[in-house]
Amino acid sequence: MEVTESSVKANHGASVPDTSASREQISQAHWLQSRGIKAEERVQLTRLSHMRYQHPDLDVLSDFMLNFGMTVAKRTESEVWFRGYGVDQYVYYATKGPKKFLGGVFAIDSKEEFEKALKVPGALPVQKLSEDPGGGQMVTIVDPDGFPFNVIFGQETGEDASTPATTKLRANYPHEKQRLREFNRFERGPAAVHKVGHFGYSTERFEELLSFYTSHFNIVPTDLLYMEHDGHRMDVTTFMHLDLGQNHTDHHSFFLGASPIGSHVHHCSFEVFDYDTQHLGHQWLASKGYRSVWGVGRHILGSQIFDYWWDPAGNMVEHYTDGDLVNEDTPIGILPAGHESLAIWGPEVPLAFLQ
Ligand SMILES: [Fe+2]
Repeated sequence: MEVTESSVKANHGASVPDTSASREQISQAHWLQSRGIKAEERVQLTRLSHMRYQHPDLDVLSDFMLNFGMTVAKRTESEVWFRGYGVDQYVYYATKGPKKFLGGVFAIDSKEEFEKALKVPGALPVQKLSEDPGGGQMVTIVDPDGFPFNVIFGQETGEDASTPATTKLRANYPHEKQRLREFNRFERGPAAVHKVGHFGYSTERFEELLSFYTSHFNIVPTDLLYMEHDGHRMDVTTFMHLDLGQNHTDHHSFFLGASPIGSHVHHCSFEVFDYDTQHLGHQWLASKGYRSVWGVGRHILGSQIFDYWWDPAGNMVEHYTDGDLVNEDTPIGILPAGHESLAIWGPEVPLAFLQ
């Protein structure tokens, strides 16, 4: 095809209001109402606190996590707690044993809400976390697909420890030079992890889990992706946020995708500081011989810059930065599902990511 001035348009990026970010939208209040969900009856989760896994070799895992940008908060013969530089005492917990996913853990602020969580169907007896940094109590709720979902109450908050990676860079744009007689210099190393941002599942029981989580917890879709069968729409993926009312919260803390090949955890994701630290972290992991899944690239839904890796046991873990924030006024985006909605730039999406 011949290239003419009118046929080629320069690329463009902009920060647009959430109310015009997708073509089809419905309000969160309408969605909750249409499903008969009573907002006040749900358990109020405050934030995602940490992830839990079982790993066959804690030494091999620790090598990976240090190179991934975490530090060791505590280590025993059979357990290890890794922390980021945010307020959480730890962002990743591992116990020794055959490879197993033990669930994400959401923090709850009030005793009343924690007691509500104990009554959710599938709740197991309360565990006291007396050996864990910050202590607290935890309850595991087994969801209708058998996934463990945990809530923690009473953990002491840690200190927000900023690191050398948290210096905001000034950028020089064509018409806006912010950095005068200052040169950018970097040090190679892992991308320091701030906090856990989200996790999610591929599930054979998508609709059941969507109902379970949105009716029992303050978890609400930010985006719903559908497939069409005989003119009928079926939701197949959703990115969901914590409903904190007017307070702003991450575009997604939890997600679900319909899976035709069995239910399994898809990935969990950790926040890093910025684009440069993330790229430096990518090169660092690659130089240590770890296996990349997909990245570095920029998601469309959620806007994050992403970078997915395999940990030594074959779990997918992600670094992300620069994600969107939403609140109860953000409309739910309704979109067709498809690979093309995954990234605006980055390497081609590998098959492994889509399963
Ligand atoms: Fe992610």
